[in-house]
Amino acid sequence: MTYPIERIRSDFPILAQEVNGKSLVYLDSAASAQKPNAVIDAQSDFYRQGYAAVHRGIHTLSAEATSRMEDVRAQAARFINAASVDEIVFVKGTTEGINLVANSYGRHFLQPGDNLIITEMEHHSNIVPWQMLAAEKQLDIRVIPLLPDGTLDESALPGLIDQRTRLLAVTQVSNVLGTVNPLDRLIATARAANLVVLVDGAQGIMHQQVDVQALDCDFYVFSGHKIYGPSGIGILYGKKQLLDQMPPWEGGGSMIRTVSLSEGTTFLEPPWRFEAGSPNTAGMIGLGAALSYVEELGIDRIHRYEQGLMHYAQEALLQVPDLVVYGPADRAGVIAFNLGKHHAYDVGSFLDQYGIAIRTGHHCAMPLMDYYQVPSMCRASLALYTTREDIDRLVAGLLRVKHLLG
Ligand code: ALA
Repeated sequence: MTYPIERIRSDFPILAQEVNGKSLVYLDSAASAQKPNAVIDAQSDFYRQGYAAVHRGIHTLSAEATSRMEDVRAQAARFINAASVDEIVFVKGTTEGINLVANSYGRHFLQPGDNLIITEMEHHSNIVPWQMLAAEKQLDIRVIPLLPDGTLDESALPGLIDQRTRLLAVTQVSNVLGTVNPLDRLIATARAANLVVLVDGAQGIMHQQVDVQALDCDFYVFSGHKIYGPSGIGILYGKKQLLDQMPPWEGGGSMIRTVSLSEGTTFLEPPWRFEAGSPNTAGMIGLGAALSYVEELGIDRIHRYEQGLMHYAQEALLQVPDLVVYGPADRAGVIAFNLGKHHAYDVGSFLDQYGIAIRTGHHCAMPLMDYYQVPSMCRASLALYTTREDIDRLVAGLLRVKHLLG
């Protein structure tokens, strides 16, 4: 069956617009993906017809909103093949999910003198929460190094683990290089040493099938906005036996069983224990619509389409003189590059004038920039609605920038 790219593009109204007098070429989906009508409509219909506070009222609207929220939780559990719906915690996004694990699991279970392992390619959101925890609890952070081709030096992992190693936190896909990490092997090594494993799925969830039971990770985190859903909503998956042992991180309404000024507070069981306050219910409804959209198209089909497009893009970019591409040939979603010695901001600003949106800068991965000894990179990212014409426009734009800047 041919991939219905025209129908798909018509589902994303923003793609039809002009930017700076040119039809938009949106190659920044790894920063945030655009939204189909199904998501936009689900959210606005909810605000128009179904909105009410959840978990609080017995009135009909409240009960229905609560039931829709819980339906999305069940849908998210199916989407990543969690063993139980109770393993799905709603969070604001990947960043909050990792901070929750660091502040609840990390603070409670890690002791001074323990260590944890991250990698040199992590996004800041999978570095900084651990550094903050390490400073507070006197932990040591060890780092799996990068290799020049943009893959991890897997062979370093066993040597980083000792009796005091407690946790491995690793990204599924590099947000800069597109490297797809060998989670099966990394997790097997970590498991053999009884480490708890957190996978940052922010750049992985939209490109390939995720099965948290097959991965055998303890935590998996992703953001709704990168999988065509709304911003401000995401999912933290945690194995039930771990969530059950974890104390709450944020306190407030909706996460308590009883509150007494003299006796203190008792808490709900997970996942509600971790969901203090009024949630982003419209975001949840939008996330459900986004997951349905991806499921209807088929994640394996999306994967094949994007892989074909990635090969096309890698070949096409060879036409641009002095273009340095970072990362392995086998990649998912993103291509990072620099054009000669030109600063990424200059290149990105010129492309923007031609209606082409890419990301430029350190990509929230300063240690990775340090590794390659550059202050910044340009990054083009692909999504289920990207076309070969988008790639051709990028190449033509880069050739023009090269001509102008030399
Ligand atoms: N983490 C997002 C990115 O890589 C924002 O662009």
